[in-house]
This record gives sequence, C-alpha cells and structure tokens, in this order.
Amino acid sequence: METDDVASIHQPVMPRECLELLDAATGGLFVDATLGLGGHTKLILEANELNRVIGIDQDAEAIDLAKARLEMFVSRFVAEQTNFSGIASAVEKAGLGRPHGILADLGVSSLQLDSEDRGFSFRFNAPLDMRMDQSSDSETAAELIARLGQDELANIIYQFGDERASRKIARWIIEKRKAGTPITTTSELADLVKRAVRVGPKEKTHPATRTFQALRIAVNDELGVLDRFIADAVDVLEPGGVLVIITFHSIEDRIVKQAFARLSGRCQCPPRIPQCMCGAAKRVEILTKKPLQPTAEELDSNSRSRSAKLRAFRKIR
Ligand SMILES: C[S@@+](CC[C@H](N)C(=O)[O-])C[C@H]1O[C@@H](n2cnc3c(N)ncnc32)[C@H](O)[C@@H]1O
Ligand SMILES: [Zn+2]
Repeated sequence: METDDVASIHQPVMPRECLELLDAATGGLFVDATLGLGGHTKLILEANELNRVIGIDQDAEAIDLAKARLEMFVSRFVAEQTNFSGIASAVEKAGLGRPHGILADLGVSSLQLDSEDRGFSFRFNAPLDMRMDQSSDSETAAELIARLGQDELANIIYQFGDERASRKIARWIIEKRKAGTPITTTSELADLVKRAVRVGPKEKTHPATRTFQALRIAVNDELGVLDRFIADAVDVLEPGGVLVIITFHSIEDRIVKQAFARLSGRCQCPPRIPQCMCGAAKRVEILTKKPLQPTAEELDSNSRSRSAKLRAFRKIR
C-alpha cells in the first residue's frame, strides 16, 4: 500500500478527545503504544512542535509504514517493534525520560484488515494466520483451531465474538478436523460459519465477522496483556502524566475499568472482610467517570469508531 492511500482511508478514532486529555498542546514526550498507521501520532506531533513520540507496535509492517508516513518528523519520532506489555523497556531504551502521556488505541488496524495475505479478513482468501506479530513463533489461527477442544473453541467464539451459534460453529470445525479436512484458510472458515449461522433479515454484517474477531483476539492474546500494560504505564508515566485507552470490545472495556478502579485505590476485597487485605492504594485519578464515546458526527464519518469507548487517568503527583 502506498503511504498516500493510507491517509485517505484511515481516520484516527476520537482525535479531539485524545489530544485534549493527553494535553498534547503543551510540549512533551508521548508514547503511542499502538502506533498502527501513525494516525494519532501524527496529530500529537502536529499539536506542538516540541512534542516527541515513541511509537510502539508489534506489527513490523505497521512500523515500516508509520515510519514512512511520519518521515518529516524524524527528529521527534522513534518507533519500536514490540508488544506494548514491553512498554517499560521501550521507554528506557529510547532514553528520552518519562512520558507526559500514553495512548493505546486497541485492536486491529485497517492496514491489517486490508492485507490480502495475513488472514484477518474473509474478504481475501488466505491462510488463517491473524498474528499481529509475524516475527514471533506463536500460534496462528489455523494452528489454534487445530489444537483446541470443542468446548474451548466454542467459549472463545462466544466470549470474544458474542456469537450465539458458537457451539455449532465449534462442532463443525472439529468435525472437519476429524474428517481429515481441517479448516486452514479464511474462505473455508467464512463458508462454514455462513452455513452454521442463521442470518436475520436486518443483519448488515457478514455472519463470519464475529468468529473472525474472536479468533483474532485469542491468537494475539489481546486481553491477557492489558493488565500488565496498564500497571506498567502507571510506573512509566511522569507524575501528573495521563494514560488514555480506547477499547472496542465489552470485555476489554471491563478489564480497563477494573484496572483503573484498583489503581484509583478502590478496595477490591470481598464484601464483609473486616479489614482491607488487597493493599489498595491511590496512584491515579480517574478522568472519565463514564467512558467517553464518539459523537454522532464521528460515528457518521468513521465507521471504525463504532463501539469505541475511551477511558483515561492521571498519575497522582
Ligand atoms: C487500531 S490500530 C492503531 C491505529 C492508530 N492509532 C492510528 O491512528 O493509526 C492498533 C495497532 O495496535 C497494534 N497492537 C495491538 N495490540 C498490541 C500489543 N499488545 N502490542 C503492540 N501493538 C499492538 C496492532 O498491531 C495495530 O497496528
Ligand atoms: Zn481491600
């Protein structure tokens, strides 16, 4: 993909809210923990000529593309290919001090969804890979569905995809495996799901959307790394610094909400315990009592903003 095409197809989600909460108009150091196509990073770099950004992404293609797109900011921008659970070492390695703000815009990028050979989308026939980090030796989606038992597979499709037909889909996948014709490509999986799911007359999304989302979340352990990331973000931020997280899935938002509550000092002990045992300590002030959501105007102009929820906290000085 050419870098010019990217700007026209990709719009960063909730840009005004991010810049305001991060206080990007005041010069400082920022970490974009999900660099992607560099949409948010570009806005931060433009917001003040003293701003610097450390961009993190586990996808090597995203790093290359963002670097090309942000070439004119080369003196104020560095990029690191790593999982954001490694934010502490990425910040230390950059040697630029503690950030004033950290942003994470979770999930999958349009670059990944539009790639024809990485298996994120049923629009293109490709091997079921779905790894954001193709340099790692972790399991691909095809390997995952070749290994998991029927119940585990059904639970993943139900929990991460909100798919009501999860049990039937899992059963059919296992039946194909047993018949010696395992599902290994996007088209095979999309066809199977399409046959398994009854599509309502008003339904606009392809019936395989939810199953593909679920497998992607599982393959990349997208929920497993969140807690550690949030805990490390507090350590890394300068006192008074802000963390902004945008989620696109209810389970993701719940994890963020609970981690924020813990860090704001709310006791997590079971009820009726005579004395707090969880060691709750107030380290952050929550800036979004309820999650912020895109305006109607943004929803109209940017379909990716659908189901976005933004939460932010400030590290106590
Ligand atoms: C929604 S996109 C970000 C788009 C970006 N904010 C922009 O405006 O261009 C999410 C990006 O985060 C990356 N990503 C997701 N989870 C990650 C993780 N745990 N560690 C590092 N990168 C991750 C993905 O590879 C993807 O490129
Ligand atoms: Zn407690």
